[in-house]
Amino acid sequence: MKISGTTVLLTGASGGLGQAIGRSLTSKGASLVITARNVAQLDDLAAATGAEVVVADLCNRADVERLAARCDDIDILVANAGTGADVPIEEETPENIDRIMDVNLLAPIHLATVFAQRKLETGSAAHIVFVGSLSALAATPQTRLYNASKFGLRGFALSLRQDLAGTPVGVSIVEPGFIRDAGMFVNSDISLPKGVRTKSPEDVAAGVTSAIEGNRGEVFVAPLELRMSATLATVAPGFSERVQQLIGTAGMKGGE
Ligand SMILES: NC(=O)c1ccc[n+]([C@@H]2O[C@H](COP(=O)([O-])OP(=O)(O)OC[C@H]3O[C@@H](n4cnc5c(N)ncnc54)[C@H](OP(=O)(O)O)[C@@H]3O)[C@@H](O)[C@H]2O)c1
Repeated sequence: MKISGTTVLLTGASGGLGQAIGRSLTSKGASLVITARNVAQLDDLAAATGAEVVVADLCNRADVERLAARCDDIDILVANAGTGADVPIEEETPENIDRIMDVNLLAPIHLATVFAQRKLETGSAAHIVFVGSLSALAATPQTRLYNASKFGLRGFALSLRQDLAGTPVGVSIVEPGFIRDAGMFVNSDISLPKGVRTKSPEDVAAGVTSAIEGNRGEVFVAPLELRMSATLATVAPGFSERVQQLIGTAGMKGGE
C-alpha cells in the first residue's frame, strides 16, 4: 500500500521506536494521529510532524474504545505500544499481569478488530502493522508475561492476515531484536554479552514502512544471527533453553 496521502493511527508514539516510526511515516507523506499517555512527548512529535494527539491509556477499556471509534478516517493502524515490565515471579501481582496483557496484547487485538471491521464495511484499502519482538518467537528467563503477550500477538497477527487475504486490508508484524539509541531496551539496565549486535530505531521505522508498502507478513529487524536463533527456538525450544543457560541470558530479554 502506498503511504503518501494516508492517515496513520500510531500507538506508543511517545516512546523511542514510536517517535522514529512517526517521523518516518511523515517523511513518506502520511498524516498522523498519535496516541500514548505522556502528553509532553506526544506534543514534541506533534510539533515536528503536525500530528493530531489523542491521549489514551491502553489499560483503560473506555480509552481503547474511544481510539477505535476514531478509526473511520484512518487508513493505516500501527499498533506499536508495548511494555516490558516483567517482575520476579515471587513479586507478581494480578494488576501487573493485566497491565502487560492489556497494553501488549488485548488493546492491539481490540483496535485491529474494530479497524478491520470498519475497513471491510467501506471496502477501502488499509493496512495494520503490529510491532512484535523476537520475544514473540523465543522464550527467555524472567520475561514470561512479555513472551506470553508477544507470542500471542504474533499468533493473532499471522492468523488475521490469513482471514483478511483477498480483502483490501493488509496485515504485517514487525519483529525487532535489541534496539540501540532509544526505546525500552536502552531504558532498561540490561547489558548484552559482547558481540551481540543491535539495530536502530530508524531500522525499525524502515521495517514498518517496508511492511506497509510491500504487504509483507512478517518483517524482522535484527541481525541474521539473532533472527536465526529466534527462529530455531520456535522449533527446538529445549535446545534454545540449554544454549541460553550456557551463555547466561538470565536478566537479558530476547529483544525486549
Ligand atoms: N526497544 C527495543 O529494543 C524493542 C525490541 C523489540 C520490540 N520492541 C517493541 O517495540 C514497541 C515500542 O517499544 P519502545 O522501545 O519504543 O518502548 P518505549 O520507549 O518504552 O515506549 C513504549 C510506548 O508504549 C506506550 N505505552 C506503554 N504503556 C501504555 C499504556 N498503558 N497506554 C498507552 N500507551 C502505553 C508508551 O507510552 P506512554 O508511557 O506515554 O503511555 C510508549 O509510547 C513495543 O511494542 C516493544 O515491545 C522494542
